[in-house]
Amino acid sequence: MSDTLTALRAPHTRRPLRHLRGPADLDLPLIEHLLRLASSLENGPAPGQRLDGRVLATIFYEPSTRTRFSFEAAMLRLGGQVISAENAKAASSVAKGESLEDTIRIVAGFADVLVLRHPDVGSADRAAQVADVPVINAGDGAGQHPTQSLLDLYTIQKELGRLDHLRIGLVGDLRHGRTARSLALLLSMVPGTELTLVSPPALSMGDDVLAALATRGVPYHEVDRLADAVGDLDVLYQTRIQAERFQTSEAYERHRGVYVVDPALMRRLPDHAILMHPLPRVGEIDPAVDSDPRAAYFRQARNGVVVRMATLHWALAG
Ligand code: NCD
Repeated sequence: MSDTLTALRAPHTRRPLRHLRGPADLDLPLIEHLLRLASSLENGPAPGQRLDGRVLATIFYEPSTRTRFSFEAAMLRLGGQVISAENAKAASSVAKGESLEDTIRIVAGFADVLVLRHPDVGSADRAAQVADVPVINAGDGAGQHPTQSLLDLYTIQKELGRLDHLRIGLVGDLRHGRTARSLALLLSMVPGTELTLVSPPALSMGDDVLAALATRGVPYHEVDRLADAVGDLDVLYQTRIQAERFQTSEAYERHRGVYVVDPALMRRLPDHAILMHPLPRVGEIDPAVDSDPRAAYFRQARNGVVVRMATLHWALAG
C-alpha cells in the first residue's frame, strides 16, 4: 500500500470499525445523530464534512437502482470517489467461483468503505468479519436493509415533523421484505410507535421481528385486509411482493396484486398522513395516486442521498 493510502487510512484504524450490518448496530441516539447529520448535508457538505480522497466500493450481487446510485452520488457529493461492481455475480471473480469472504478481503484492500448487497441473509455480517474497513449492508436477502430504514425515518420526520407517537402501517410482503423488517426494528426504538402489520397470513412478519417488538413493548396488530387498516394511520408504508424470494412463480402469482393503493383507498387515509414505498413498485400503487400530495415515495427516494452521505461520513470520519 502506498504511503498516501496508509496515511488516509490511519485515522480510522485507531477506533473500532463502524459497520452498519443491520438495526442492531443502531440505537436511538445514533439514529437521531445520523438524521441531524443528513439534514445538515441538504445544501452540500461543509468543509469539515467532506471525504476528499476516500474511496467507496459498491459490491452488488442483486439488482438495484436507488440504493447503489444514491450511495455513489452521496460519496461523489462528499468529494470522495467510487469503484463499483454493479453486477458482481456475473462480472467479478465470483463468476470464477471465488467466495464472498475472499472477494470482500480483496476489495477491502482497495477501498475505505464497502457497501454490499447480496442475496444471502447474514452476508453483511460475514463480510464485516473479514473486512478491515467498514461494511454497510445495502440489503442481505430477506434480512435487513438499514440505510433504507434510516431514509424512511428521515422522510417521516421531514414530512410529519416528528418520529415519535406515530401509527404506522406496514403493508405487503412482510415475510421477505427487508425494508419492512428493518423499519419495524428501527421504529421499535422510537417512543410511542404503534404498528399495524398488513399482510396475507403466508407473508406475515417474521417471528424474530415480532419478538423484538414484544420485548420493547411496541403495540402491534396483524391484519390481512388493507382497506380496514388505513383510517387512523399517520404513515402507510406499502411494499412490493418480493417475487425473487418465492420458490416457484405459482407461489408468487398467488400473492401478486393482493394489495393495491388506488384513489379509493387514499380516500380512507387521513388528510395529514403520508403514503410511502421503498420502490420499485410493480403495480401495488396506482400511478393515479402520484399527484396526491400525500404520496411521498419519490421525495422519500430522493432523501436517500443525504442519508447515505450521513452514513458514509459516520462510518469514515464521524
Ligand atoms: C428495496 C430492496 O431492495 O429491498 N429496494 C430499495 O432498496 N429501495 C425494496 C424492494 O426491492 O422491494
